[in-house]
Amino acid sequence: MGYNCIAEEILTKAVVKVRVTFLGHACFLVEGGGKRIIIDPFLSGNPQAAMKPEEVKVDAVLVTHGHGDHLGDAIPIAKANDALIVAPYELAVYCQRQGAKAHPMQIGGAREFPFGWVKLTPAWHGSAVVDDAIEYTGNPCGFLFRAEGKTIYHAGDTGLFGDMELIGKREKIDLACLPIGDNFVMGPEDAAYAVELLRPRIVVPMHYNTFELIRQDPAEFARLVGAEAECRILQPGEGFDL
Ligand code: NI
Ligand code: MN
Repeated sequence: MGYNCIAEEILTKAVVKVRVTFLGHACFLVEGGGKRIIIDPFLSGNPQAAMKPEEVKVDAVLVTHGHGDHLGDAIPIAKANDALIVAPYELAVYCQRQGAKAHPMQIGGAREFPFGWVKLTPAWHGSAVVDDAIEYTGNPCGFLFRAEGKTIYHAGDTGLFGDMELIGKREKIDLACLPIGDNFVMGPEDAAYAVELLRPRIVVPMHYNTFELIRQDPAEFARLVGAEAECRILQPGEGFDL
């Protein structure tokens, strides 16, 4: 192996990072270690979607709950990519019945997958597929996801709860994705309090301004977070390296 090859190898190792891209609403694309996952891929019908479902290339799809703005395009994306859906048990079974590959988990359970480590956290919310009828899909969840030594907490849809402090004590969170839209989930004040409990290095607000009902000013959230964490307000399509 020549000097250049060694230098190149060192350089390659040094630039290994986890890239996070916000795709609108509660959807994030996470790339690291040569694998890609997408969380809550609500793209069709999302006025802010930064990507078309057919453009998504992933190894796995993490889904927090059955509501349309989270389950979204998960099933067609999983089928098109031969990707694995990871979801709470009842929702995973629903996805399997629609012909997708799905791995069931439950809150408190963790598993090492080829694409990263996943643990399900509580979320205070509902979970159902709502069409002409309502099909309940178990408990909603949040996700802890770790790849390349970086830990991401995606809260899913939830109100503020005290056990966020436990999550923050147990995990060193590099990035927390927290809903701030109010009405269905935490508003900015509760989400800022959640940052105090979770103690992440970086926080990204999500689940706001997609619809009129969840209109919020993310700058106000950033002001409330203050020096507790680095608040990054992302436009759909924007991302950064962790
Ligand atoms: Ni929901
Ligand atoms: Mn939602």
